[in-house]
Amino acid sequence: MTSPSSPLTSTSSVGAWLDHPVGGPILRDLLAQSGQSAEVLRPVRKLAISRLVTLSKGQFPAELIDELIRRVEAGETPSTTAAFADGAATEGVRSADAVDRPGTAATTASIDRPEWAERIDGGRFSGKTVIVTGAGSGIGRATASRVAREGGRVIAVDISQDRLDDLAATHSGADIVAVVADITDDAAIASIVEAAGERVDALANVAGIMDDMTPIGEVSDAVWSRVFRINVDGTMKLMRAVIPGMLENAAGSIVNVASEAALRGSAAGVAYTASKHAVVGLTKSSAFMYGPSGIRVNAVAPGPTITNIEATFASPLGAERVRTGMAVMPEAAESEALAASITFLLSDDGVNVNGVVLASDGGWSAA
Ligand SMILES: NC(=O)c1ccc[n+]([C@@H]2O[C@H](COP(=O)([O-])OP(=O)(O)OC[C@H]3O[C@@H](n4cnc5c(N)ncnc54)[C@H](O)[C@@H]3O)[C@@H](O)[C@H]2O)c1
Repeated sequence: MTSPSSPLTSTSSVGAWLDHPVGGPILRDLLAQSGQSAEVLRPVRKLAISRLVTLSKGQFPAELIDELIRRVEAGETPSTTAAFADGAATEGVRSADAVDRPGTAATTASIDRPEWAERIDGGRFSGKTVIVTGAGSGIGRATASRVAREGGRVIAVDISQDRLDDLAATHSGADIVAVVADITDDAAIASIVEAAGERVDALANVAGIMDDMTPIGEVSDAVWSRVFRINVDGTMKLMRAVIPGMLENAAGSIVNVASEAALRGSAAGVAYTASKHAVVGLTKSSAFMYGPSGIRVNAVAPGPTITNIEATFASPLGAERVRTGMAVMPEAAESEALAASITFLLSDDGVNVNGVVLASDGGWSAA
């Protein structure tokens, strides 16, 4: 951990930068000059500042971090010279449910907590075939990776060939079968089940998209149907496809990824909120129907998580209301923290759990 007087580097956390007596004012000054407050960085306080380079998709370049370090080393006090290229400097660091919001919690935000690290159980998925959708990025990728590193055979599904290639390249020696498929397409669903082969032990329905934060009075048919096609129809189609095999085996575990927006009305627009409530309905109905047949069906509701998911704000009313609802949103989690919750339910460790919606959100839903 970096104490306020330690030298700042590119591996110091965003929180350490903000709390530093010299670095904090310089970073705040840069943000202010591009019309942003330090609040925009709150979801990523725990991350090394160098992570912003990739997360901001080029809007927070490595040169800017070098410049920040140079200014801190020189002991500069904030100048009025703008260093950000435009007003959207940190936009890319926001993920699905992670947007800036009013208010600060300096008393708790500055607490140094020990970092969590994955603890791999080498054999938890040995001999198991697990389908993971959205495996090319974010939560799906972290889930696929964890299952593979814990001995499972992963059927990794995504629409992006490049992302799946990257997953395979970074897990050499792991048993990963990449299937490029759009989960809204029936032929693609059949190809996923075929790639899995005779036995599917578990399914993680992770692929999903965000909406544009529009309320019901403004939502377009295009946004509504695209969000429902992927988040609901795709999830339903793959569940339906694996159920017959699981019934034959009298065993199976399905985990659907919902959202904080499945638990309340204040986390997204109407399309995403309704779609994630529908995911809960799919989960509970199936858990009730198939529990006695040996199949467990659960959902995980992530809070803000650092991934590549994109949210837009197409409605001033939606933006105002959703930001209000996020006043007590916790720091964003890394995808691996979500994979820990998902793999718990996917694995036999979840043996006695069926039909739950597990909020994996740092306590946001308790607020
Ligand atoms: N990131 C968050 O803060 C957050 C919060 C709550 C819920 N979620 C949910 O978590 C899930 C994963 O999201 P993420 O944040 O990891 O997003 P992400 O965008 O990083 O990853 C999603 C992956 O799904 C793939 N995908 C999209 N449409 C697909 C389709 N039709 N067929 C196959 N693959 C498809 C994408 O190519 C991408 O690789 C989603 O269901 C999302 O709603 C995310």
